[in-house]
Order: sequence, then C-alpha cells, then structure tokens
Amino acid sequence: MPEQTNRHAPLQFAYWVPNVSGGLVVSKIPQRTGWDAEYNRTLAQIAERAGFDYALTQIRFTAGYGADNQHESVAFSQALLGATTRLKVIAALLPGPWHPTLAAKQIATISHLSQARIAVNIVSGWFRGEFKAIGEPWLDHEERYLRSEEFIRCLRGIWQQESFTFAGDFYRYRDYVMKPKPLDPLPEIFQGGSSRAARDMAARVSDWYFTNGNSVDNIRRQIEDIQAKAQDNGHQVKIGVNGFVIARDTEQEAQQVLQQILDQADPAAVQGFHHEVQNAGRASPEGEGNWAASTLEDLVQYNDGFKTNLIGTPQQIAERIIAYKNAGTDLMLLGFLHFQEEVAYFGREVLPRVRELERQQQAVTEHG
Ligand SMILES: Cc1cc2nc3c(=O)[nH]c(=O)nc-3n(C[C@H](O)[C@H](O)[C@H](O)COP(=O)(O)O)c2cc1C
Repeated sequence: MPEQTNRHAPLQFAYWVPNVSGGLVVSKIPQRTGWDAEYNRTLAQIAERAGFDYALTQIRFTAGYGADNQHESVAFSQALLGATTRLKVIAALLPGPWHPTLAAKQIATISHLSQARIAVNIVSGWFRGEFKAIGEPWLDHEERYLRSEEFIRCLRGIWQQESFTFAGDFYRYRDYVMKPKPLDPLPEIFQGGSSRAARDMAARVSDWYFTNGNSVDNIRRQIEDIQAKAQDNGHQVKIGVNGFVIARDTEQEAQQVLQQILDQADPAAVQGFHHEVQNAGRASPEGEGNWAASTLEDLVQYNDGFKTNLIGTPQQIAERIIAYKNAGTDLMLLGFLHFQEEVAYFGREVLPRVRELERQQQAVTEHG
C-alpha cells in the first residue's frame, strides 16, 4: 500500500517566480516587484536564505490580461539555479510548444548543471488566444489532459528506461536511448489544474498536484478525492496549494493592503481573464476546473490566492498554514505584492512560527 502524506514531515514552501511582468495581481496598485533577471536572481537568493524549498517559474507565450513581457521558463530557471546553491527550481512546460523529446533532453542537461535541483511543472493550457497566436491547435479540455498525461509518461520513460518505446495518440518512440540520464534523484514532475481530468491525471502519474487557492475544507475534499484514487492506482502524489500572502504587523494593515489591491484592480483585464478561463474550463464536463467558482474579486489574483486567506499577522498566517497542512497539504506555493522584501519578511516572521507550531503538534502526538 502506498505511503500516505507524512503529517510530521515539515511543510515545504515554494514561491512564484515573477518572470512575467505585472506581478501576481491584476491591479494597478504600485508593486515593488521586477520581472527582470537581476531582480529575480536576488529574489532567489533571498528566498533560499529565508527557507524556501522551491521556486516556480511560469510559462506564457504572449501577453494577455497584464503580463506584457514574459521570460521563458526553462532558460530563466537555469539562471536562478546558477545564482543559488540549495533552492530547487520548477520549470513550467506546456505540451504542444514543448515536445517530450526536447523537454527530456533539456531538463536532463539542467539536472547535470544544477546538481539535480531542477523540477518541471506540466501545464495544460487555459489561454486559447495564446494557442491561436502561435499556431498551436487548441485541443478540448479532456484532450489537453490526455496529451499532458502522455507527455509525463514519456518524460519519465525516457529518463528511467535504458531504451524507451511508446505508442500513444500524441507521441511515439521506438527504442529511444537518451543519454546522459538526469542525475539522481530524477527531476520531480509537478502539474497544475483542479478539474476532474487534472485530478485523475495526478492520481495516476504526477509526483505533485498543484491547485489554486481555496478554503481549507475545499482543499481537504480535493485531497481526499485524489489520495483515494492514487491509492487505488498504487501511486503516490503530494499536494501543493496556492496562496497570496499579505503579512503585516497588524491585521488591519494587511486588510488595508488587500482592499487597495482590490480597489485598484483593472476591471477590463479581470473581466477578460474571467471570460477566458471560463471558456477554457467549459469542456471540463463536471464543471470543477480551476476557476469554475471564482468571483471577479477572486480573480484579481490569477490563481485564486486570496481564497487561501493568508492575510493578517504572522501568527494568524502561520496558524492558517498549519490548517492546510493538517488537511493533507505538503507544500504551500506563495505569491507576494512586493516580492523581495515580503519573501524576506515571511522568512523572518512567519516561517519560524510555522516551525514552532509543527514542533508543538509533533510533541502532542508523541507524548499524547
Ligand atoms: C500552480 C499553477 C501553476 C500554473 N502555471 C501555469 C503556467 O505557467 N502557464 C500556463 O499556461 N498555465 C499554468 N497553469 C494552468 C494549468 O496548467 C491549467 O491549464 C489550469 O489550471 C486549468 O486547469 P483545469 O481547468 O483543469 O482546472 C498553472 C496552474 C496552477 C494551479
């Protein structure tokens, strides 16, 4: 029987790399966050010192709803790995533009360049205008996930098997020998998405399932659903949950910042994004895709990060983070308004409180 999530393992932390312009909120509020290489190298070093385990890069091929400039995820990940020594960097890959052959080779080389600190996030696409702009066929929702699942099976097969043969609907290999293999441990495979198709894929093939922000109860329900299926499949999967952090010395200050972000939201951009993501999820038959229940206010943070409610004092945030851990979360994926200074503040003020709460919980379990 597969091992269940270990509630005693320390919770892990990732931050969103701002490698696209405009930060993590669709708002005109001034943000002290840069999208350039220098800002991001320094940010990666700050995050590493602050105690973050992973950095997650984003892939966007064109502007839309903000994000006028977008650096490419794999090249950018390599730059961050070069600037750090312990941080793991997760590079986003979009099947379609990426073929598993190129991805497997690129990531194997980066594994050697970085002492095995590279991981991948397989994204399945939500932005039809982007696919149209680059001449990529826009598959329907279920087919996008069928392709992503084959992509993951091919990546793993090429990396693990001496000689790889595969006959799928999207990809084919015959006795393919790729060398060098990535270093050990193999790059971890993350995925994003919350729909039925996304969860079922996680329960079959992914090492990690990333989901949008949500309440603790909704996250618990998703996790129970995925872990039950993973167990039936004899597969182990870990869970990462998105949250937007506004940590301030007082709760009032934090709430004021949230209000300012919302007050200065760009309504046309948020409406456009809402329309686009609803359209992207429409073909997901059960209607439970990532943004199926998002309000316009929720979408001011692209990935429903306000719903996780990591907004308040360091102690309040630490307690809420522990509630997600207790619901079965293994990793919190975090976004910030002013990244460099807020990642440092999080490391100083919030993380030690999370660790203290983890110690207290463990002591209670061990000593009754
Ligand atoms: C944490 C996270 C990161 C994501 N990163 C990207 C990205 O960089 N580029 C992209 O096009 N889509 C990204 N996505 C979108 C997903 O791949 C997927 O298309 C979207 O969540 C819709 O999925 P669903 O309708 O199956 O729930 C991300 C999603 C999540 C949850």
